Amino acid sequence: MSLNSWSEQFSVNHNVMDVDHQRITQRIGYLYESMKTGHDKNILLPLVNDFIHSVEHHLFREEQYLKKINYQDFDIHKHQHTLFLAKINEFQCSFAQENQPFAMLSLLNDWVLKHIVETDMKYK
Ligand SMILES: [Fe+2]
Ligand SMILES: [Fe+2]
Repeated sequence: MSLNSWSEQFSVNHNVMDVDHQRITQRIGYLYESMKTGHDKNILLPLVNDFIHSVEHHLFREEQYLKKINYQDFDIHKHQHTLFLAKINEFQCSFAQENQPFAMLSLLNDWVLKHIVETDMKYK
């Protein structure tokens, strides 16, 4: 099984945000495939860090953008980002405990795509 990734239907008509969203699902995909191949932690850890960095960077950038356009549901949107960061933290803990949490990674990927469709689309 492989994970769904960004495609044109997920476009929010904002080039920077679209590229960020593509990057995130791509990073999750790399990590997922690499875990499937059975790579050890030395190889997986930089991929985990890269994935987390891509998310943190994007959420910050998106929030700055929403503030700039005086987005009316900013607090609701930001709250969702905060919940997602908590899930990522759980994933990171599970990984640190020597697990290769495929199911969690798959859920994070689903969350990203669902968030784009249901929440990010509103600022389109
Ligand atoms: Fe968002
Ligand atoms: Fe986003």
